[in-house]
Parts: sequence; C-alpha cells; structure tokens
Amino acid sequence: MAVKGLKEEIERVLITPEEIAARVRVLGQEIARDYRNGAAKDPYGRPLLVVGILKGAIPFLADLIRAVDLPLEYDFMSVSSYRNGTSPGEVRIIKDLDRSISQRDVLIVEDIVDTGNTLDHILRLFRARAPASVRVCTLIDKPVRREVEVPVHYVGFTIPENVFVVGYGLDYAELYRNLPFIGVLKREIYEEARVANR
Ligand code: IMP
Ligand code: MG
Repeated sequence: MAVKGLKEEIERVLITPEEIAARVRVLGQEIARDYRNGAAKDPYGRPLLVVGILKGAIPFLADLIRAVDLPLEYDFMSVSSYRNGTSPGEVRIIKDLDRSISQRDVLIVEDIVDTGNTLDHILRLFRARAPASVRVCTLIDKPVRREVEVPVHYVGFTIPENVFVVGYGLDYAELYRNLPFIGVLKREIYEEARVANR
C-alpha cells in the first residue's frame, strides 16, 4: 500500500522552521539573562533544572536548551489528563521526575497552554515539592481558550484564534509531531477520524 506524505495532510503552515528557530534563539537568550540576573533562587546555587512535559515538548526542549548559555540539567515528566473525568484538569502522573526538585530552580517546558488545566495541575504538584522557584516556558499559548489563570513567563508564539495546530512536537492522535513546522490540519482529516470513531 502506498503511504501518503505527512505534509499532504496540512491545510496551511502557521509558523515556519525558520521562524521557530529564530524565536527559540531569542527565548534562550532571555532565559539565560534572567537566570544570571536574579531569577535563580536556589540557596545552594545548583544549576537550573529544565523539566520537559512529555511528549509534545521534546523537539522544543531539544532546541531550546542548546540556545541557553547556562549550566543546566534536564528531566522529564509525563502526565495524562482525565478529559472525561469529574474534575476538569485533574492529571495522573505516568512518569515522574528522576530526582527531587526541593530548593531547585525549575523551568517547566510545555508544548502548548490551551485551557490551562494541565499546567495548573502540574504547577500544584510541583509547588507541593517546595522548589526554590518555578517558571514556565511554552512553545505556544492559546489565550482565547483559557479556563484557569496560569503564570507563563516565556511564550514562543501566541495563537490569537481557536485553531488546532500540529507539528514540532504537537500531535493529533499521536501523529504529526515530526513535522518541522507548525500548521493546521486539513478539515477532512478530523472528519475522517470522527467517522472512524463512531
Ligand atoms: P490544556 O490542559 O487545555 O491547557 O491542554 C493542554 C494539552 O492539550 C496540550 O498539552 C496538548 O496535548 C493538548 N492541546 C491543546 N490544544 C492543542 C492543539 O492545538 N494542538 C495539539 N494539542 C493541543
Ligand atoms: Mg501535550
């Protein structure tokens, strides 16, 4: 059977690989500057701990850390949200951090903040572990969909409308994460999926 290329399923490109790379460089410089100039609160002066939220943050984190001229460590957490559960935004930890974050400076790296529920829950989990500081860096912010107010210190791109985006880590049904750009899927892809799930 012939396999279709991924890009054929994209309606339009919103953010090109070049735009992503340029923005990541600027974010990296901002982060390095801030942590050199007072954002670091660890009483023991340990390196910044960058925490990537799996799986969407992987490409972004990989590029971002190489743009941050600071000593740093990185770790990962994987959570799953109960979309159909009783309390919205409740998340279950699938993979926890390897080490303690007590009195560490933590920078959470997310793919996208949409309603804010996932991040809100992650922040509660983190704060309960008494880090020295917590900041958040997201590749994409979709403020129009926000249900919970969450602090986001670093934003790659703000998407002003309510569109579903894929690529550069962002998925639709686990696919499209490996696209080098951020784009919008063709309408028929969603429709096909809806028919298949009936
Ligand atoms: P929130 O809890 O509503 O902020 O949603 C966060 C999660 O929803 C993200 O980590 C994504 O997995 C998913 N999500 C929300 N909007 C999009 C999108 O436009 N494209 C891909 N995933 C999305
Ligand atoms: Mg995600």
